[in-house]
Amino acid sequence: MSKPSVIIIGASGSVGRPLVDEFLSKADHFSKIGVLSSPSSAHKFENQKARGVDVVVGSFADPACYRGYDIAISLAGNTIMRLQPAMIDAAAAGGVTHFYPSEFGSDTAQDSLKNFRYFQDKRMTRYHCVATAKLHPQFKYTYMLTAPFTEWTIMPFHGVDRTTKKVVAYGTKDMPMDVTSLKDTVRYTVASTLLPFPEGQQKREIRVVGERTTFQRIVDTLAEVEGCQYETVYVPVEGALEKMDAARKAEDEEAELEWSAKGLLNSGDAIVDGPYDNERLDPTPPETVKQTFERIIRV
Ligand SMILES: NC(=O)c1ccc[n+]([C@@H]2O[C@H](COP(=O)([O-])OP(=O)(O)OC[C@H]3O[C@@H](n4cnc5c(N)ncnc54)[C@H](OP(=O)(O)O)[C@@H]3O)[C@@H](O)[C@H]2O)c1
Repeated sequence: MSKPSVIIIGASGSVGRPLVDEFLSKADHFSKIGVLSSPSSAHKFENQKARGVDVVVGSFADPACYRGYDIAISLAGNTIMRLQPAMIDAAAAGGVTHFYPSEFGSDTAQDSLKNFRYFQDKRMTRYHCVATAKLHPQFKYTYMLTAPFTEWTIMPFHGVDRTTKKVVAYGTKDMPMDVTSLKDTVRYTVASTLLPFPEGQQKREIRVVGERTTFQRIVDTLAEVEGCQYETVYVPVEGALEKMDAARKAEDEEAELEWSAKGLLNSGDAIVDGPYDNERLDPTPPETVKQTFERIIRV
């Protein structure tokens, strides 16, 4: 099989930066590694350019930006999440035959998440993948389902204050949740691009999880690694949902998405069920929560 070429949209974001690094560490397996950047952000990629990355400057809605690439990976963040159908149309018109929509989290297809605001645009994008596959028989797409990133669960966004050692979390204590480190997420994502697509299929789901745990166990592990105590309070998710509604009425979509995501970790829906693809992608086991914290926290 010839070496694939891959272009990343949203490569300067929080997932994009480590993903580009991971692709570069496996550069021998790819004919070309590219990033698609708007003109105003192109300066952010000087370092990657020096390391051999092809920086394509233009619009993600322009088919010309995708010419010469087999695979496109969208890491659209909240601001451009709803514009992914335009990316898919342009990518398919530009010759991309394999598209990764911006999933990289919980399984958005769960019944319990069907009205969950944060995933609304991701679900619409899935329908657009289905429709595009009907129009273009050579078009394939992969959903990368990875669960919340371990590193992200202890950010202020989720109510964790590592200075005062206090946590105020929306939701219910001891609900199950899955986590995967961002480090493992990018490792599995790159490996997935080299895995042959199943014959006769246009859709593929890749499911990888590091550990099934609870938010409280994560906080307890953080306390253990930091050698301290955390005081944790759980507050009703309705408080976040009221703020989400206020943002909706103000047509502030970014704020609406953020408030909607606040309650996810302690809802019981931050889950990716198996069977898992970890081992067939890479036999090296994923990090445990404790290993991730020991790596990222300097006490
Ligand atoms: N599982 C988890 O815990 C978790 C955590 C975080 C994110 N995620 C998921 O990961 C995915 C990526 O999120 P992220 O946090 O990496 O997003 P992000 O940090 O917000 O990055 C968004 C990217 O989009 C780019 N962008 C914005 N406007 C653009 C335009 N007009 N043209 C080209 N690029 C544009 C930005 O580039 P510039 O600003 O440089 O233009 C940036 O690189 C999402 O699906 C998100 O839900 C999952």
